[in-house]
Amino acid sequence: MMRASRFSLYAVLAALAEILAGCEQSANLPMTTLAPKSDLASAIHHLFLEVTAWDAMILLIVIVAFTLAVFVFSTRAGEAAPPSQASSDLKLEIAWTLGPALVILMISIPTVRTIFRSQPEIAPKGALDITVVAHQWWWEFDYPDGHKTANEMHIPTGQPIRLRLESADIIHSFWVPQLGGKRDVVPGQINHLTFMASVPGEYPGQCAEFCGLSHANMRFRVFVQTPDDFAMWQKAELAGPATPPANDRLAVEGAQYFATSPCTTCHTVEGVSKGYIGPNLTHFGSRTTLAAGVLKNDPSEVAAWITDPQKIKPGAYMPGLVLPGPKLNALVAYLESLK
Ligand code: CUA
Repeated sequence: MMRASRFSLYAVLAALAEILAGCEQSANLPMTTLAPKSDLASAIHHLFLEVTAWDAMILLIVIVAFTLAVFVFSTRAGEAAPPSQASSDLKLEIAWTLGPALVILMISIPTVRTIFRSQPEIAPKGALDITVVAHQWWWEFDYPDGHKTANEMHIPTGQPIRLRLESADIIHSFWVPQLGGKRDVVPGQINHLTFMASVPGEYPGQCAEFCGLSHANMRFRVFVQTPDDFAMWQKAELAGPATPPANDRLAVEGAQYFATSPCTTCHTVEGVSKGYIGPNLTHFGSRTTLAAGVLKNDPSEVAAWITDPQKIKPGAYMPGLVLPGPKLNALVAYLESLK
């Protein structure tokens, strides 16, 4: 009997170690909130640990009280009936009202503080303001110096970032687990999210509010860069779109086709077309993904997207464009040349 209970204790400990090891490994999982990479994400992580500690304490008290009630204070067979029940005990009642109230206070003070910290009234000094516009089903990022990009936001480390969240249609939610969040993006209202990233890297994000057919496909990426790398990226973004070199005949042919194609009614390529419905394509070729992070940015996936967007992202507003092979290849070559 003794051996059996010792065995089950070991089994429980082994399972616990396994679970904790899983938490540790989650540092390599992209959508984890347990590997904070910004001041806000760290604050949220600390809050999580703090609340968990209070919860664990309550759980312990309940387990001890329950165990005592069942094994120590219960009446055994053949024993006399329990003593008469007390009708009330003022001290006890005050204690079990004040105790939980105190715990709730200890949880709510840091929670409210963290919420306010994530959206200070006044932007921190030297903050980089980025307007995030959520669309069904993609993300637009507008930088203060006028360049726009889609689905891939670049930010520097060590500089406060202040996001101004707007929606072009319905309610979405901006969420990059390793950088903090989430924050709802509500039409007719501007919400803010302020944080400072600390570790360069690529961090996936996801719309976290159900917003229709392709909600699950409304992904994006945040590239946190060193200030020097970020400055280089910004310089490239501010430059006009690359013109395909004359010897790249396929891309040159694609450029000619693009300029008169239906693509230009929705998409902007600086100096070539002005469209405001779909993502800005001025530097499309420099992005790593397309279709709100669903596809890799390589020629075959771009071609598949152009031909049948709804197959990849159900409900997508972009109409498919069925083109003869050579024309499609030329268009793809042009888009990929837009570095
Ligand atoms: Cu946008 Cu869900």
